[in-house]
Amino acid sequence: MPQWHLRTRRTSYVLSTTPDASGAVSDYWGPALADGDDPEPWSEPDRFVGYAADADAQPLEYASDGQRHTAFSELLVDRGDSRTGARWALYGEPRWNSDSRGDELELAFRDETGTLELSLGYRSSREHDVIRRWTRIANRGSDTVTLPRAFSAAWNAPVGQRVRVDYLAGSWAREFQQRSTEVHWGTFSIGSRQGVTGMSFSPVVGVSALLDDDDVAARSGTAAYGVALDWSGSWRLQVESAAVGSHARVSAGVDDDVTTITLLPGEEFRTPDSLGVHATGGTELPSRWHEFQRGLARQRGPRTQPVVYNSWMATTFDVDIAQQLELARRAAAIGVETFVLDDGWFRGRTSDRAGLGDWQPDPAKFPRGLSELADGVEALGMRFGLWVEPECVNPDSDLFRTHPDWVYRAEGRPLLTIRHQYVLDLGREEVALWVMATLRELLSSAPIGYLKWDMNRPVTDGGRPGDPHGREWSVQHTRNYYRVMDMLRAEFPDVIVEACASGGARIDNAVLQRSDVVWTSDQVGPRDRLVIQHGFLSAYPSWTMSSWVAEDDGHRDREAASLGYRFAVAMCGVLGIGLDLSRTSDEDLDECRRRITAYRGIRDVILAGDVRTHGDPRRGLYSVEYSTDSRTVLFVFDRDRDRTRDRDAARVSPAGLRARTRYTVLDGYGRATGTRITAEEAVVRGVPVAFTWASDADILILDAC
Ligand code: DGJ
Repeated sequence: MPQWHLRTRRTSYVLSTTPDASGAVSDYWGPALADGDDPEPWSEPDRFVGYAADADAQPLEYASDGQRHTAFSELLVDRGDSRTGARWALYGEPRWNSDSRGDELELAFRDETGTLELSLGYRSSREHDVIRRWTRIANRGSDTVTLPRAFSAAWNAPVGQRVRVDYLAGSWAREFQQRSTEVHWGTFSIGSRQGVTGMSFSPVVGVSALLDDDDVAARSGTAAYGVALDWSGSWRLQVESAAVGSHARVSAGVDDDVTTITLLPGEEFRTPDSLGVHATGGTELPSRWHEFQRGLARQRGPRTQPVVYNSWMATTFDVDIAQQLELARRAAAIGVETFVLDDGWFRGRTSDRAGLGDWQPDPAKFPRGLSELADGVEALGMRFGLWVEPECVNPDSDLFRTHPDWVYRAEGRPLLTIRHQYVLDLGREEVALWVMATLRELLSSAPIGYLKWDMNRPVTDGGRPGDPHGREWSVQHTRNYYRVMDMLRAEFPDVIVEACASGGARIDNAVLQRSDVVWTSDQVGPRDRLVIQHGFLSAYPSWTMSSWVAEDDGHRDREAASLGYRFAVAMCGVLGIGLDLSRTSDEDLDECRRRITAYRGIRDVILAGDVRTHGDPRRGLYSVEYSTDSRTVLFVFDRDRDRTRDRDAARVSPAGLRARTRYTVLDGYGRATGTRITAEEAVVRGVPVAFTWASDADILILDAC
């Protein structure tokens, strides 16, 4: 049986064809195998298969109905008139390319009619451990074929039948909550049908064998597998554990609830990529994802993101030139590097009921256009940034009055507003061209160096009657969103792009590839925010995680926090300020200035270092650690409601120090504390936390001597 061996930085992924060449099967996925140490090709199904067809028990890399009959299939084929499913045979020469950078494989199959083609694509890199997979389905026949489901890939994770699934779930202002569940002979499915990634779930899971003693220490040595979908539209990710075999099957692709793919004769559908990664411990998965995401970041590797001031929380829709210039002066004085004017600046935008779509500065608020503010901000030594929401429109806007047909609608069904707005059908060519032209004009009208792209409602009544591809609206919308984002990068390479969707409703690897920072959540209450950031960092990297210091206490854990605590939370990623600086006392402004200076001194480690979290942000001592070869920065947060802890005994144990190295401990401002400690002592005894930064949070800097 031909066998292919894809190598990543630390792992091997091996597959072969089934004995009858009707599909591909997984032979191995785990730590790197030595050259020539090829695993046995998969051969015999489990003896408990009984009367099922072989394909139902094989760890197939991808399956369709017609091929499988009892187990889940990633592809459903419908030719009409009850002709469903397809059965496959390998055809042509597999395409295999391998060089020092990685491997690439494409395997092609043809169905029994000879008119449907299925290609399974794979790419590995030696720089990280993530494998990319995709599928292409082509209709070479003369009849239309519909695909009620066309997923990207199935990943066979060899973790047995009792499976632990780790995932991220949430809602508005409560995104990225870490949850885990057990799947034992059943399925677990998460997704979005709202046209964007969504807040309910993130398109990424971790799977591992469920242990009886399921604590962190036990999990640190257990094989874990991460699977993600590289996609920002509607999606679904499913974990299946069956009573036969020894794999958990993780299937991922565009959502099969609101999406049906239509292949007219000659057409082809190329799925989004699915991403898979193996780590030797569940606790290592986050750093494996971060390592991969470094290659997605612009200019290869995290670049320095500016400290942002955003005026949304201070002024909401009630903005004008004089008040924004005054805020900008105060922001510059405390060390802010980019000043962002949020919602409210454009024609007719007095509240969220009007104006969306009319992207010209409101003459009543900015009589001399945006340049006056942008020039003023630049004169203060900062970049100027602007908020837009190009995919949406208020019914009360000139855009909607001119193009009422540009919004998603289901024929005559009354249109549904959410936040008083509709969603533009971005999949339509004229809408995509209008969005691109509007952004080009805007970005050329003033020195704008930062763009915050927002999207504040789910798509409802998606579809396009009369268009044979109308049930692909979510795919088309997403592809044109990428097209516009790619245009921004190509034509305005110096503009920093912040991706936002009511907070974190569109965050995934595809967005990370096209933006510089993401607005993780509208939740700025520092204790709630810390929990969100904890979940975020388990799948996404610190250099994209923008976070503001603000006044709000949060929605759930409202216990008072010091200004120092608020800073420490926001400093865990890309620091921003959302305070109403016009009301901030001189004393607090001075404190902000000192803390921003401290952040700028350690920002390179926070954005480029390896990130580890220790403990639970909801209770006890919780810390976030960032380590580079020569410096480790530790943020420590205290959640001691009853004040029972002996503060003198507070210690944290970093895990990213260099072995057999002595470290000098500095406080958050970079001042020596007098403590020197070896890496080994730091792990065994812990580093003392003196809480000099604030009474409830501390920052320790450990420099290798
Ligand atoms: C939702 C965003 O998450 C906020 O930061 C702000 O930009 C508002 N939209 C503005 O309408």
